[in-house]
Amino acid sequence: MSEKRFAKRMWHASSNAIREILKVTERPEVISFAGGLPAPSSFPVATIKKMAAEILAEDGPVVLQYGTTEGYWPLREAIAEWVKVKGIEASPEQILVLSGSQQGIDLMGKAFLDAGDRVIVEEPAYLAAIQIFRSYEAELVPVKGDEEGYDPGALERALKEHQPKLIYLVSTFHNPTGITYSLERRKKVAELAAKYDCYVIEDDPYGDLRYSGDRVQALQTFNPERVVYLGSFSKIIAPGLRIGYAVAHNPEIRQKLVIGKQGADVHTSNLSQRIVHSFLSQGLLPDHIDSICQDYKAKRDLMLAGLEEHFPAGAKWVRPDGGLFLWVTLPEGISAVDVFPRAIEENVAFVPGAPFFARGGGENTLRLNFSNASFDQLKTGCARLGKVLKEFLD
Ligand SMILES: Cc1ncc(COP(=O)(O)O)c(C=O)c1O
Repeated sequence: MSEKRFAKRMWHASSNAIREILKVTERPEVISFAGGLPAPSSFPVATIKKMAAEILAEDGPVVLQYGTTEGYWPLREAIAEWVKVKGIEASPEQILVLSGSQQGIDLMGKAFLDAGDRVIVEEPAYLAAIQIFRSYEAELVPVKGDEEGYDPGALERALKEHQPKLIYLVSTFHNPTGITYSLERRKKVAELAAKYDCYVIEDDPYGDLRYSGDRVQALQTFNPERVVYLGSFSKIIAPGLRIGYAVAHNPEIRQKLVIGKQGADVHTSNLSQRIVHSFLSQGLLPDHIDSICQDYKAKRDLMLAGLEEHFPAGAKWVRPDGGLFLWVTLPEGISAVDVFPRAIEENVAFVPGAPFFARGGGENTLRLNFSNASFDQLKTGCARLGKVLKEFLD
């Protein structure tokens, strides 16, 4: 069918590069560091099964009926409590339950963006966010950063020059780079957003997965009216429940998000909301998160040791304090896209970094996921990938 049959905003929407890569990695002999999946062994299947049975027995017809767009009130109350550890003070009214935090990125795009509006994104940035903003025909303005987040000078120049409507960022254990914004940079972004009359999406699906270092308060706390915080239970319970949330102090923004969500899915699954509410109200999450973090910390450390042992001199990587990813930079001139087919021949997969760069570049970068592989696979996979990379460097 001709592309012209479709809306203009979809003409250049290529399918998610990572999804294409994941297809190649489905062969069972391939050790995949490519996806961004939590370890299935971390899913509390038995607990969820029991909770679902109890909820349906007690309240089946209500749970199976339509619900409110804003979300199940007791869950909104419980989330308002939950976000206090991030420094966020919010009333239950200011919490909107979402079908995954990804829906929050989409609803912010829907609420704010006309064709040609500008959005500042990190370079590199979360791929799905790039795609969402593009689907609203926004112009992306990538801004470079370092291990503490956006470079303040570069951010201010971009704000002055492009007058964007939105700044998007992943504040803690970034996807793909693993970095965490320092307190100073969080303050600075909030300050610059106010100075240049811009709104901020703080996307934080990984913040609870910390293996070292101290928690940094949410960027949202430095300007609650201008920053919409997006959180998620995907990485700390299970992504298949599809429960995320927005903290939106600004009532006008909140209203637009609710209207957008009405059009998108009416409301988030009642059963999933009730399950997450049970986790929170029974106080089960802290211990569960501790056990996930123990497993992922050991995996992170094993992958870091594997890189140290097997990767060629000249390759560099970020040591993240949490999250699911390591970000590797190869010497200039080596393309991770070229390395990829050779790695697949050796039965190991990763994600080349280039698609995360909204305006091109990053050919010599790649992302490695450590949560979804077994300990043995981490060891073997790092050795295989190191061998392939050494070949390229030689
Ligand atoms: C940075 C980032 N934001 C949002 C999401 C989406 O998470 P959710 O499952 O809550 O929709 C992901 C998922 O991997 C992510 O990496």
